Amino acid sequence: MSGKITFAMIKPYAVKMGYIGPILAMISEAGFRISSIASTKLSKEQAETFYAIHKSKPFYDDLVEFMSSGAIVAMILEKENAVEEFRKLIGNTDPSKADEGTIRKKYAKSIQSNAVHGSDSDENARLECDFFFSQKERY
Ligand code: CMP
Repeated sequence: MSGKITFAMIKPYAVKMGYIGPILAMISEAGFRISSIASTKLSKEQAETFYAIHKSKPFYDDLVEFMSSGAIVAMILEKENAVEEFRKLIGNTDPSKADEGTIRKKYAKSIQSNAVHGSDSDENARLECDFFFSQKERY
């Protein structure tokens, strides 16, 4: 059965460009409830751990550098079928392939600086939510 939560993160370049408000508005208008939200900055070690699944990829070192380069916004989002619904809202990982009206089409600069992260499975959603938020921080 599909889960009700997903993990979302607004990435450093989108935060720097002032896109937090417009992206949160799109998330809200799409019917997600933001049950946890935090503005923070990842250390290099935290970025390495969060993206450990991509360690063997050629883009891993650059991705870690970029993700620890500035503030990010982390969120737990609630909706029926949250993982799939959020991936629809954000669009393709590569913004040049993302559909019109998606968050990445509107706010991403490149495949690395693609504005937002969204979990790709219920299991990863659980792990990623736990990475950022304790039980006390979920409402
Ligand atoms: P995200 O949804 O955060 O999950 C993994 C990230 O790796 C992805 O978004 C991109 O930012 C990055 N990524 C994936 N593929 C590539 C690639 N080919 N080149 C550079 N970065 C990539």
